[in-house]
Formats: sequence, C-alpha cells, structure tokens
Amino acid sequence: MGALDPDVRITAVAPSDVAAIEQWVHLTTAVVEHEVGDSAAMWTVPEMVAAVQDPPENRHELLFLGTVGDDLVATGWITLSMIDNLSGADLYVGVLPEHRRRGLGSAVLAHLEEVCAERGRTRLGGVTDWRYDGPPDGSGTSGVEFGRAHGYAFGLGEVQRELALPADADLLEGMAAAAAPYHSAYELRSWTGPIPDDLLQSYLELSTRLATEAPVGDLEREDHVVDLADHRKSEQVLAEQQRVPWHTVALDADGAVVAYSDLVVGATDPKWIHQWGTLVDPAHRGHRLGVAVKVANLLAFQRACPGERRRILTWNAEVNAHMIAINEQMGFRPTARGGQLQKKLC
Ligand SMILES: CC(C)(COP(=O)(O)OP(=O)(O)OC[C@H]1O[C@@H](n2cnc3c(N)ncnc32)[C@H](O)[C@@H]1OP(=O)(O)O)[C@@H](O)C(=O)NCCC(=O)NCCS
Repeated sequence: MGALDPDVRITAVAPSDVAAIEQWVHLTTAVVEHEVGDSAAMWTVPEMVAAVQDPPENRHELLFLGTVGDDLVATGWITLSMIDNLSGADLYVGVLPEHRRRGLGSAVLAHLEEVCAERGRTRLGGVTDWRYDGPPDGSGTSGVEFGRAHGYAFGLGEVQRELALPADADLLEGMAAAAAPYHSAYELRSWTGPIPDDLLQSYLELSTRLATEAPVGDLEREDHVVDLADHRKSEQVLAEQQRVPWHTVALDADGAVVAYSDLVVGATDPKWIHQWGTLVDPAHRGHRLGVAVKVANLLAFQRACPGERRRILTWNAEVNAHMIAINEQMGFRPTARGGQLQKKLC
C-alpha cells in the first residue's frame, strides 16, 4: 500500500461551521460525480447543515475534511445510530481524482476508524458507487478495491434506478387497477407530512424492520428500535432540511399499518426525489400490497404536483427480484451500481 502522504491534515467539521459544511458537500459531490456522472446523488448544503446542527437523537453525522497545504482534497463521513446498532457505524471516504493513490484515502479511513473505536463502534460499514456498466461485484472499482485493501468485505451489491417525471399515469393507474382485487380487504391511505398519531406505533413496528427484512447479503445488521418520540424528532429535522415526506400505507381490518411506501421531496434538491422504504409485513404478503402502496404514493404525489420534472431515485439489492420487477414495470431504469462493505474491528 502506498506511503501515507505526510502533509495531510484531517479535521473534524464543527457543527456551527456552515462554510466548512458547504466545502464538505461540494467536495463529496465532486467525488461522487466522478464515479457515476449525472447519476450522482448527494445531500444539499441546507440538508446537511440541518442534520449536523440539530441531530435527531437516533442519528449523528460526523464530517471530516482532509487538507494538503491549502488544498482541500479529501472528505470523511461517519453516521452513527444512537439508539440501536450501538456497535455499528457507517463510513465514507472520498478523495478528489487527481490526488488518489498517494495514501490520502488510507489516512482518512484510519482517522475515521480511530474515532469509531474510541466510541466503541466495531462493526463498520462502507458504501461505494460505480457506473452501471461496471461489474456487479465492484471488482476493479476504486471503492471496492480500497475497501478490500483495508479488510472490508463486499457484503451486498445494489443497483440505483431512476424514473424521470412525469411518470406514465395511464401505466400506473393500470398497475393499481390490476392489483386492486387482490387487496380489497385492506384500506390504502396516502398523505404528506408527519405520520398521524393513530398510525405511528404500527408504522414504526413495520418500518424499523426494513434493515433486516430487505435483502442483507453477507452483511450483519440489527433492526432499529421503535421509539415514537425519537421519530417525531426525526420528522422535525426532516422539516428543517426542507424535505417533505409523502406516505402511502395499507391498513388491515384493525387499522394497523401492514405495508407502506415513502417518497421524500427536498425543496433544496434541484435534481432528485428520493424513494425511501417500501415494505409489506411478511404476514400480509401475497395481496399485491407492495405494488399497491408504491404506485398509489407516486400517483398521489404526481396528481398534487403535476409540473414536477425531477427524477425519482431508488436503490435495490441486486437480488431483490420482486421489488425490482415492480420498479421496472413502473418505468424505473438502472443507471448506477453500489456496494455495501463491512469490516469488524477486533
Ligand atoms: C476509494 C478512495 C477513497 C481511495 O482513495 P486513495 O487516496 O486513492 O486511497 P489510497 O491511496 O490510500 O489507496 C490505498 C490502497 O487501496 C487500494 N486502491 C485504492 N484505489 C484503488 C483502485 N482504483 N484500484 C485498485 N486498488 C485501489 C490500493 O491497494 C491502494 O494501495 P496502493 O496505491 O499502494 O496500491 C478514492 O478512490 C475515492 O474517493 N473513490 C470514490 C469514493 C469511494 O468509493 N469511497 C469508498 C467508500 S468507503
């Protein structure tokens, strides 16, 4: 492995330092754009400022900048879950293309691992993106090879898909109509903004299982915990980030949420609308509730915002054939690949 660049200085970004957060976002965006071009998706400055300055109880974002001389050349990012997964941490390292293979990435990673170890975080995850025409296992890509060189095993291959709005409303309505006879015992409900009080408990009981109900490959993960107050705080941060959630749920005869789909629309993001989780309770599968909630949610959003021209972005594990089939039918097309890596510190 290359010798460490002797001049690199790694500094933590202070939550109050908006200029440094701005530098961090611009540098990290440039790194991701180098990897996946126009498919790059990164948080905007206002989104990151809100998350760093007023973090919810359950999630802390720690940002780092790597400098050589007067030049900013590298970034580091640690995400810590604070109420579950307490031995875990998610890491990202980015180095500007013209400064690679000089040990800068290794120096930033060593620093992040040290910060994690100090906090008792020993199960470390990393995410890296590359172009769709690259190999599914990421062999030869900078992120996967760098991870391998540092003991991070490839745990799960994912594919990014996009759908340019407006979506084909006739197609979506046809999909909804075809699914409807299968889920007549359930009520679909769509809204925008916070989860209503009467649905919050059962929504969280389901959504906190997404981490392990979705395919995990060789990754070790824990479910999130159900914490109503903490969820309200997360919604508050979302509002401070100017991100508006759109939800559709399916309710069983007792009024409990048994399927859901979430879209998140950021006012400061010029390019993307994000498809977040979609999940059907295993006890209620086989009623086409997955397609029902996902299609109903997109239709609700599109009817309310007919002039919207951004792209919807979604990620699926490559092995998640069922959800991918629904996405492809809706018109989503693959544009990039990603890999989740994992390492355990001794
Ligand atoms: C991955 C990344 C951070 C590496 O930064 P870097 O400064 O070039 O890393 P280093 O110089 O410390 O590389 C250390 C070792 O990793 C491996 N490595 C790094 N990039 C590699 C590449 N493109 N191909 C093969 N091996 C590579 C090599 O073993 C290298 O040692 P060597 O140069 O002596 O052969 C940088 O390429 C990047 O920003 N990529 C895009 C973002 C990303 O995918 N980050 C990883 C997510 S955690």
